[in-house]
Amino acid sequence: MTKAFPKGFLWGGATAANQIEGAWNVDGKGPSTADMVTGGTFERPRRFTAELQSDTYYPSHQASDFYHHWREDLKLLHEMGYNTYRMSIAWSRIYPHGDDEAPNQAGLDFYRKIFEQCQAYGIEPIVTISHYETPYYLTKKYHGWLDRRVIDFYLRYCKTLFLNYKDLVHYWLTFNEINILIMMNGGYVGAGLPLEDGSPLFNSRVTDAQRQNCFQALHHQFLASAEAVQLAHRINADNWVGCMIAGSQSYPLTPNPADVLVNQRAMEMNNWFCGDVQVRGAYPYFAKRYFEDHHIRLHTERGDLATLKAGKVDFYSFSYYSSNTRTADPTEAESAGNMTVGAKNPYLKYSEWGWSTDPTGLRIYLNEVYGRYGIPVMVVENGLGARDEVTVDGRINDDYRIAYLKEHIEAIHAAIDDGVDLIGYTPWGCIDLVSAGTGQMAKRYGFVYVDRNDQQRGNFRRLPKKSFYWYRQVIQSNGADL
Ligand code: BG6
Repeated sequence: MTKAFPKGFLWGGATAANQIEGAWNVDGKGPSTADMVTGGTFERPRRFTAELQSDTYYPSHQASDFYHHWREDLKLLHEMGYNTYRMSIAWSRIYPHGDDEAPNQAGLDFYRKIFEQCQAYGIEPIVTISHYETPYYLTKKYHGWLDRRVIDFYLRYCKTLFLNYKDLVHYWLTFNEINILIMMNGGYVGAGLPLEDGSPLFNSRVTDAQRQNCFQALHHQFLASAEAVQLAHRINADNWVGCMIAGSQSYPLTPNPADVLVNQRAMEMNNWFCGDVQVRGAYPYFAKRYFEDHHIRLHTERGDLATLKAGKVDFYSFSYYSSNTRTADPTEAESAGNMTVGAKNPYLKYSEWGWSTDPTGLRIYLNEVYGRYGIPVMVVENGLGARDEVTVDGRINDDYRIAYLKEHIEAIHAAIDDGVDLIGYTPWGCIDLVSAGTGQMAKRYGFVYVDRNDQQRGNFRRLPKKSFYWYRQVIQSNGADL
């Protein structure tokens, strides 16, 4: 390595409201779409239920009870030396129905206290405005993001946040993993689109009608995001707004040109489609071909393209966990885990949940993104979901997590050395939280263990893991001591 991590590099961690807060119906919060999703496992998919069922477990309802533990949690992040913390705001805590005229003051107060404490600790919040959830009322009344009117409700919510937290928050992400709507209909629930009662959360086999809905909803989210960028800048010139993309690094399974082409097209749609709209301010050239091939007809209005152009993001952020392979051979496809599409890569190891470990893929992705867009980049999610054991003397020796993160920090260091303008790193689920994919607590990512299991037992006690002390030393040394 020839260069250290840059001075002022943002070191932290990331969480999302519906996966950590709990208190789903407390102090005026309305139900969100995430509150309608059951628990599950790797083998048994989470389901969306149109109404809450009394005998069913909904993990978001209590999650890690951050709502009542936030002081302690922020103190732990501070002890690790965080200078940033990525978190999301639950829209339905601020606007319980989504289309309310006035915000819920208790919700605003809750986040204000958090941001004030962050400021006292010198922690810069990075706030995701919408992380996989929409007020459920907007689904019932408007079919969620399918309805163009939801753009205005979202902007009212954004304006409330930008004005209320003007002096406390400067980094904003408009939508978590906005490209999930393209990758699988798991984005359906987050975007509040209508789903049949009992539908599985993730389903990579989308029908043409579902795909049409996804792209229409996405178009509305693109417009909302572009308007939000401009609004944020108008309210405070110091605001920095980023896109957030699920980084889907993939490789051709073989050098067969047919595999290479399939992979190129997967990279285009999974990554560059949304990135191009949000960073370059226009739909990419390959959108036309894709829309024709899939019989997609977007309903647009005059001025939409100008809005996209005027609302380009300031930085590019993404999540990265693992990589996939792509092949033209249908007998090889889709065999590697619930959220992984593609054949297994013989060069990589896979977790119990079917996710590969591929730090080099992160370096490749960083270079590709920076080469394509040339704007500052942040890795806002990364980590290993794993089972943790608490020893009789209360220790969690998560060497596997340390090993994973060490390799990935080395990869981002190498990418900086390659010349990528990488400004921050916030590993996922720094405090244990509910898995979005499976709804489990058992799939843990944190530096801090939360005493809670999938049988809903445990008192939410926080315990620093071995990785907690390791990460503290990483931050203290600005990435030199791994
Ligand atoms: C990202 C999401 O896709 O991956 C998070 O933004 C999610 O919300 C994370 O938790 C890890 O996935 P999972 O399924 O292991 O929770």
